[in-house]
Amino acid sequence: MNNIKITLATKKDKNYLLSYFEHYKIKGLIENRVNCYILHNFTVIARTNNKIIGVLQWYIKEDPRAGVVEFEEVHVSEKYRNKGVGDLLIKFAIRSVRDYFKKIQIKPRKIFLFVEKNNKAAISLYKKYKFKFISEVGRLFSDKEIQLFYSRNL
Ligand SMILES: CC(C)(COP(=O)(O)OP(=O)(O)OC[C@H]1O[C@@H](n2cnc3c(N)ncnc32)[C@H](O)[C@@H]1OP(=O)(O)O)[C@@H](O)C(=O)NCCC(=O)NCCS
Repeated sequence: MNNIKITLATKKDKNYLLSYFEHYKIKGLIENRVNCYILHNFTVIARTNNKIIGVLQWYIKEDPRAGVVEFEEVHVSEKYRNKGVGDLLIKFAIRSVRDYFKKIQIKPRKIFLFVEKNNKAAISLYKKYKFKFISEVGRLFSDKEIQLFYSRNL
C-alpha cells in the first residue's frame, strides 16, 4: 500500500488517538490513557491521508537497566488489514526500541507481548519478526480466551 507514513506519536496526535480509541467509551479513563501513550509510552502510528489506520505502543518495563520492553495495543483498522501495515508497525517499533536504548546507553534485552491463542494473524506476524513462544498464561483478559506469552531477543 502506498502513501503510508509511520511515526512516533506526539502531543499533536492526541485528538486522532482519542478518536482511534473511542471504542473504549470510558470517559476520563481514555483521556488519561492517551496522555500516557503519548507522554510516557511510545506510540507508533501508521497514517494515510492524515488518518490513523494502525497503532502499536511500547514501553519500558520495570528497571530500565534491564532493557525489557512490552508491546501492546497492536492494531490495524479492519479496512486496511493484509496490506503490510502491521509489518511496517512492528519493524518501526523494533527499530525505535533499539534507537531509544542506544540513546540512553543501555543494552536492550527483550521485547515481550501477550497474544490470544487463536489469533493466527497476529501470531504469524510476531513469528515473522522472531518472537518466540514462551508459555501459555491462561485466561488473562477474558474468561473465554487463553493468552500466550511471546518474547524476542534484541
Ligand atoms: C494482527 C494485525 C495487526 C496484522 O496487521 P496487518 O496489517 O493485517 O498485517 P500485514 O498485512 O502487515 O501482514 C504482516 C504479516 O502478518 C501475518 N498475517 C497478517 N494477516 C494474516 C492472516 N489473515 N492470516 C495469517 N497471517 C496473517 C503474516 O505473517 C503477514 O506476513 P506475510 O504477508 O509475509 O505473510 C491485524 O490483523 C489486526 O489489527 N488484528 C486485530 C487486532 C489484533 O489482533 N492485534 C494483535 C493483538 S496481540
